[in-house]
Amino acid sequence: MKKEKKGSGVKLTRYLKPYWIFCLLSPLLMAGEVLIDLFQPKLMSHIVDESISGKPFEEIMPTVILTGVLMLVLVAVGGLCGSLSAYTAGVASERFGDDLRRDGFNKVMSLSLQQTDKFTTGSLVTRLTNDIVALRDLVMTVLRMLIRAPMFLIGGLVMCLTLDVNFGYVLLASIPVQIVIVVIMIKYSHPIFSKVQKKLDNVNSVVQENVSGARVVKAYTNEEFEIERFDRANKDYRNTNLSVLRLFALVMPVLMIVMNLAVIAIILIGGYRAEAQALNVGDVMAATQYITRVLMAIMMVSNIFQQASRAQASASRVREILECEPVIKDGPVKDSDEKGTVRFENVSFAYPESSGVEVLSGISFEIKRGETVAVIGSTGCGKTSLVNLIPRFYDATIGNVYIDGVNVKDWDTEALRRRISFVLQKSELFSGTVKENIMIGSENATDEEVLRAAEIAQADSFVSQMPNKYYTYVAEKGASLSGGQKQRIAIARGILRRPEIIIFDDSTSALDLTTEAKVQKGLRENLEGTTVIMIAQRIASVMNADRIAVIENGALVAFDNHENLMKSCDTYKDIYASQMKGGSGINE
Ligand code: CTP
Ligand code: MG
Repeated sequence: MKKEKKGSGVKLTRYLKPYWIFCLLSPLLMAGEVLIDLFQPKLMSHIVDESISGKPFEEIMPTVILTGVLMLVLVAVGGLCGSLSAYTAGVASERFGDDLRRDGFNKVMSLSLQQTDKFTTGSLVTRLTNDIVALRDLVMTVLRMLIRAPMFLIGGLVMCLTLDVNFGYVLLASIPVQIVIVVIMIKYSHPIFSKVQKKLDNVNSVVQENVSGARVVKAYTNEEFEIERFDRANKDYRNTNLSVLRLFALVMPVLMIVMNLAVIAIILIGGYRAEAQALNVGDVMAATQYITRVLMAIMMVSNIFQQASRAQASASRVREILECEPVIKDGPVKDSDEKGTVRFENVSFAYPESSGVEVLSGISFEIKRGETVAVIGSTGCGKTSLVNLIPRFYDATIGNVYIDGVNVKDWDTEALRRRISFVLQKSELFSGTVKENIMIGSENATDEEVLRAAEIAQADSFVSQMPNKYYTYVAEKGASLSGGQKQRIAIARGILRRPEIIIFDDSTSALDLTTEAKVQKGLRENLEGTTVIMIAQRIASVMNADRIAVIENGALVAFDNHENLMKSCDTYKDIYASQMKGGSGINE
């Protein structure tokens, strides 16, 4: 069964190559099982004929026992072949699925943010789990059935006809009917299968959003709405699945009826022939078994087709991930003599998924090594977008960004990102200990270094109060910590890396001013030579920076120190005035 169109990008069959020996063994062993199975009715008929032959008991006994023992031995050998075939098919299909999942996951890791955004998290999860399971199941079925079905079909036909050519009429009548029914079933179920996977995406998306956003849902007692939303997605999924099942429920009994009618016809024809002494009773019994196998074989083929059409939808979804070319491509540069400098040259930027609306326009500036630069501006003005271009989370639409004098597009992405620490606006913690969380990105750091980084980030004060100190377990997404605690652990992580450039995206927003001041003092004293870029909403957080970039509607309106900005920049003066008046800033 082909799971893919020829010539299109990644071939999924290549994932079976390493396990070709299992792929070969499984059908071979299966062939053994089928051969033995085809032989059984023949032996059975021998016993029956002997028993009703009217010969004296003592005469038939040895033949019956011998044949019985032979049947038992064959069943045992056949069973062994069958289990080994299942095992080898299992090994091949599981490893196939495993490798595919690993490559899929690696690919997802290599994609840039704009690409993963486009897939949606729910869909990525379905593709990496459910879709790959469907493919694995198909491999299993194909390995087991591809030989079994034709052998049953041809073997059954041959055996049946050698018993009596007249049985050919029954075969001629029943096989075409069976085939027509199966073809109709495949035709109708195929389009439904691709729908099923899409509906499952929706279910997964709702679950994913609600589990990660559980706090918001609860805070706004929005459970009912969300449950309803889930119900809708769930019902949709169920109904699509049911429509496939309904089709099968309708067709299966028809197939069974055809099969039973065929058996009856064989008995009728066989009965006449036996009466005419042209056939033994045992042969008639054997013939009913053979015709059942022939018709079963057609059902098996239909089974393979069903699974294949289901898997085809999955295959294209999995291939879509594997074929996705990361839009951020590595450049050749791994090092530079210049350290810790940032230069924006006439940079404009629009998010690829938005319809070309510029969120940054014509931005040029230069930051020297070791400088502390603050970025301020109203919410949504483009601060995060600006700093996202530095580690190349996105590429500028127009203009260029240079780090250490090298265009970010020429940097090897890993080398570039290794020299930058980025403390995100929303601190991301992972389930694990505090220490593990701080050490992300600095696997070789010593205990002293971890402690030092935590001290600078003002995290040591609360971590050392925890029951297991640095070995305290942090729940998923840091749920067991306060917002400010999470921020300080994230800051410690950024510091531990000893980067050339450290970016804080509003990452002291949850700290009180005293703690924030301590963090800033710690940074100044301990990170000499490190370039610091600090986004903040509060004037108090930025006043002491060497220079402050003021952003308004995606444009850089001023770039100077606090004193000069207070004299020359109206936007800055406005922010200052509003925070003094609102009391939300420096007087707090
Ligand atoms: N934006 C977008 N697509 C994204 C992220 C942001 O279209 N994936 C838009 C936002 O709607 C916003 C603009 O880009 O209008 C700038 O966003 P951002 O740089 O995140 O603004 P910040 O200045 O960082 O805002 P805040 O202070 O609230 O963090
Ligand atoms: Mg932001």
